[in-house]
Amino acid sequence: MKFFIDSANIDDIRTAVSWGVLDGVTTNPSLVAKEGKKIDDVYPVICDLVQGPVSLEAVSMTAPEMVAEGKELCKYGDNVVVKLPMTTDGLAATKELAKDGIPVNMTLCFSPLQALLAAKAGAAYISPFVGRLDDISAVGMELISQIIQIYDNYDFATEVLVASIRNPIHALEAAMMGADVATIPFSVMQQFAKHPLTDRGIEQFLEDWKKVPHA
Ligand code: G3P
Repeated sequence: MKFFIDSANIDDIRTAVSWGVLDGVTTNPSLVAKEGKKIDDVYPVICDLVQGPVSLEAVSMTAPEMVAEGKELCKYGDNVVVKLPMTTDGLAATKELAKDGIPVNMTLCFSPLQALLAAKAGAAYISPFVGRLDDISAVGMELISQIIQIYDNYDFATEVLVASIRNPIHALEAAMMGADVATIPFSVMQQFAKHPLTDRGIEQFLEDWKKVPHA
């Protein structure tokens, strides 16, 4: 499973890159706003930092505007993926951009039929939001399993990008189900490497090492 970081924070992205586990980045307008920086100070830096795909979100609402904005976003780097909302205009724009070889990540997906439409329109990625479904007492991960089954049934190439991940269990279940990508907040990614038995084991080894005679 590929790991993307869900962030617009340059320091966090740089750190995740240094761990050697990062395959790409997703951003959204809320994450960018949180950084309080100009777009031109954030997008090109992220595109340079990361070898893999970087999803940058268009904020237009009509298909022709989405296509134009998507093409503008591609100027930030060769690895840009245009992120579009799961609307009928988003579908039309996805089809147009895909025709020109521009990859699209369809976002804000909350149902398997939305995911089916995105794949038929030629989206490179579908982003189902599991945490936000959990928030309304639905089971977010059930959506992932439904989408994987539908895409398998018809051999769609669209990658399932599990989004709105809130905890390591979401990522673990996504991996068990065979999702293509998980986009993970930095704070959650940090938790993956942690285990109390690892910490206790290190302490023990260091204590015992002190007892070994050194030249
Ligand atoms: O990848 C989408 C993600 O940023 C949304 O996460 O936690 O705001 O639902 P959240």
